[in-house]
Amino acid sequence: MPEHVAIIMDGNGRWAKQRGLSRLKGHEEGARSVLAVLKAAKKAGVRFLTLYAFSTENWIRPKEEVDGLMNLLALFIDRHRREFLENKIRLRVIGQIDRLPGGVQKKLAKLIDQSAKDYEYTLIVALSYGSRAEIAAAAKAIARKAATGELDPETITEETVTQHLYLPDVPDPELMIRTSGELRLSNFLLWQLSYAELYVTEVLWPDFREDEFYQALEAFNQRGRRFGGVVTH
Ligand code: FPP
Repeated sequence: MPEHVAIIMDGNGRWAKQRGLSRLKGHEEGARSVLAVLKAAKKAGVRFLTLYAFSTENWIRPKEEVDGLMNLLALFIDRHRREFLENKIRLRVIGQIDRLPGGVQKKLAKLIDQSAKDYEYTLIVALSYGSRAEIAAAAKAIARKAATGELDPETITEETVTQHLYLPDVPDPELMIRTSGELRLSNFLLWQLSYAELYVTEVLWPDFREDEFYQALEAFNQRGRRFGGVVTH
């Protein structure tokens, strides 16, 4: 079983369009998939789940859609706070959180804090996230330490970079799922996904529920992971 699964939740807009609904209705149904997959991941014993909910590029979408997504996020936290705590799910976030509306930041901070005390599973939500921005920020932090003499440039390794990313303590995802058929990484966890198995399904995110998640885990289990060496099973 993978310890960490990352997902690019794509296809909410297409799902809505197929039904003659607004894009926001697609996102609402997508939020139901978030809950379903969160439960399925817990059942399967997947300890870390990272979901790409909003990219740095998504800010250019119509204001109505951006506002709608932010409201949906706030509503999701309010509605499911108890479930997070009762199910020992810790909430964490990655991305430029200071760009989010103040109210959303507050709600996030509260549940992040409440859920950090007693947990077994971790949900990481990528918000206003871009992987190149994350790596650039890490480079800046490392350069600062080198400039002040806190760090010797000769000692910089891959591990040094990892240690300066948003969540240095989280293991790399072994499996990355993308819904709705696109074969792209879209600036998502570029460093962390170096060795991940990629699973792309045509299923649109609002239709991606428990069974689809288990199918992805099953496909993962069928693959021989090499890490540049020879297949071990
Ligand atoms: C991609 O579909 C999806 C998003 C940009 C938003 C994802 C957000 C949610 C699933 C809901 C809220 C999240 C949480 C964590 C509660 P798209 O709009 O790009 O679809 P399209 O490519 O078909 O247009």
